[in-house]
This record gives sequence, C-alpha cells and structure tokens, in this order.
Amino acid sequence: MFPVTRPRRLRRSEALRAMVRETHVRPTDLVYPLFVVPGKRVRREIGAMPGNFHLSVDELLPEVAAARADGIGAVLLFGIPERKDERGSEAYDDSAAVQTGVRALKDRHPELIVITDVCLCEYTSHGHCGLVENGQVLNDPTLDVLAHTALSHARAGADIVAPSDMMDGRVGRIREALDGDGRADVAILSYAAKYASAFYGPFREAVGSTPQFGDRRAYQMDPANADEALIEVGLDLEEGADIVMVKPALAYLDVIRRVKDEFRVPVAAYNVSGEFSMLHAAATNGWIERERAILEVLTSIKRAGADMILTYHAREAARLLA
Ligand code: PBG
Repeated sequence: MFPVTRPRRLRRSEALRAMVRETHVRPTDLVYPLFVVPGKRVRREIGAMPGNFHLSVDELLPEVAAARADGIGAVLLFGIPERKDERGSEAYDDSAAVQTGVRALKDRHPELIVITDVCLCEYTSHGHCGLVENGQVLNDPTLDVLAHTALSHARAGADIVAPSDMMDGRVGRIREALDGDGRADVAILSYAAKYASAFYGPFREAVGSTPQFGDRRAYQMDPANADEALIEVGLDLEEGADIVMVKPALAYLDVIRRVKDEFRVPVAAYNVSGEFSMLHAAATNGWIERERAILEVLTSIKRAGADMILTYHAREAARLLA
C-alpha cells in the first residue's frame, strides 16, 4: 500500500519500462494483405486506402521483396478477377491473378508464408460471398465452390488458405478437399468470428464487392454477440481449423480475449480496412500521431490475446519495430 508501493518506480526510464513490458509486437506477428489484379505493370493506388495498391503479378514481386526487406514474413492475397459472374467462377481458375501470384511468390521466396483469402464476393457479379438463388445466399451449394477455390490456391502453392465467407461447414469441406488431394500440410486459417461490420467499407471499394442487393447480415455475425463467437470458433476447430480469426479487431478486443482464454489455440485478428483508413485520415489531418497510434493499436490487439495480426500497417510497423 502507498507510500510503500509505488508503481511509478518502474516507469522512471525507458530501460525500466522495457524490462517490465508485458506485450511485444514483433514483425513476425504481422501479415501484410495485398490485392492482386490481372494484367501487367498495374500499380494503382486504392482511393480509400492510401498506400495500398492493386498490383499485377509483375508489380507484386517488387512490393513483396520490399516488404521482406522491412521484416515481413507473411502475406495474405486477395484477387480481383478479369470478369465477375453469378458463380464467381474465376475464384477457382488456376490461371487467375491469385493463383498466378502465389506461384510467382513461392518460386522467388520459398520461405515466405503465403496465405490466400478464400471467398467468392470479389468474384461474383452480385457481390455476395456465396451462390445466390431467389435473393438468398445458399449455404450448402456454396461449399463445393469454396473447397474448389481453396484447392486451386493450395495447388498453386499456398501455405495457408483462409476462408472468409462465413458459410456453415466450410472449414470441414475444405479440409476434406485438401486431404483428399494429398495436401494435408496446407493449413486453414478460418475467419471464424467475422462480424457484419461497417469497418469493411474501404475494402469493398478496393475489390468492388459491395453487395448489389441486401447486405451480409444473413451470414456474418451480429456485432452484439460474443457467446456466439465461441460457438463459431468451436465449430471451426472441430472441423479442422488450425488458426481462428476474429474480425474486425478493434471493436472486438473483448471477443479476441474470450476466444484466447476459452480455446488456447493460435488466434489471428484482422485490423481491417476501416480501422486503417480512420487512423490514416486522422493522422493526415494532424489530429493524431501516426506512428504512436499504429504501435498502440497493434499492441492493444496483441494484449487482447491475438498471436498474429493482419494489418495494412504491416510494412510501416515492421520498420518502426526494427
Ligand atoms: C470477404 C472479405 C472482406 C474482408 C476480407 N475478406 C469483406 C467483407 O466481408 O465484406 C474485409 C477486409 C478489410 O476490410 O480490410 N472476402
């Protein structure tokens, strides 16, 4: 009790503070999301996500080489198709942008961890994450398309496939497809507790995946629910997920903590586009200090219990941490 106990004693210098620091963010905790497009010599900045680009595969290579020089060891690839259709068929086209990007990256950087986002929303004309009939997103018929897509990514060389669609049963179906093809080593990072969030706004501009009708509330989770996140995570683990994700991160730090405490498995958190763009906009206006804010945000996500963070700040953060 005061005056004997004085917490300030250990805050007197940076050396003391560092010695008792509980949470550390390391570059190896970070995953850098990238957007791959068809074509050549494309490096087009995404309006709502300054500093992030649509990259053709030839431009993806120097970007990843630079990220590796910054200390980044893992990337997450999103693909933008040449043409969208009802079934999102370019998602499982072996010669589409993502598959080509994966092959090129694994060829140049065999030790780089390459993760692919498995979903249909970037590829469907209606912008939903599954097949649609009579205005409804169908669960079971979508599973085959997702499994097919994941397998196509795995055959291209992906180390980890990351389904983000929120259809029930997809992790099990993907695991079955991978194992059936002799790819038991390919891991599944499941977007297990993915909420129907306003914070995906800039991303949907980036990939043109805003639903043409309705919204995603019939498959993504209600932001009000946390017990349900534990059910979702439990199911995905039973179905064979190796890593489970909570998304978004900042408005759901309590969910990250509960998932970690309950399951003690590797937990990922997605510091999503809206979180990135808000920080960027405020910093650009001089309203907050950019570098401190980035590190504070990432530290809070790790402190909540995340082992890894998917973040558009990855390169900058890795340089700050070097
Ligand atoms: C769906 C997907 C989304 C994001 C990642 N995968 C968007 C959505 O559900 O609408 C969002 C990522 C971000 O906002 O940074 N394939």
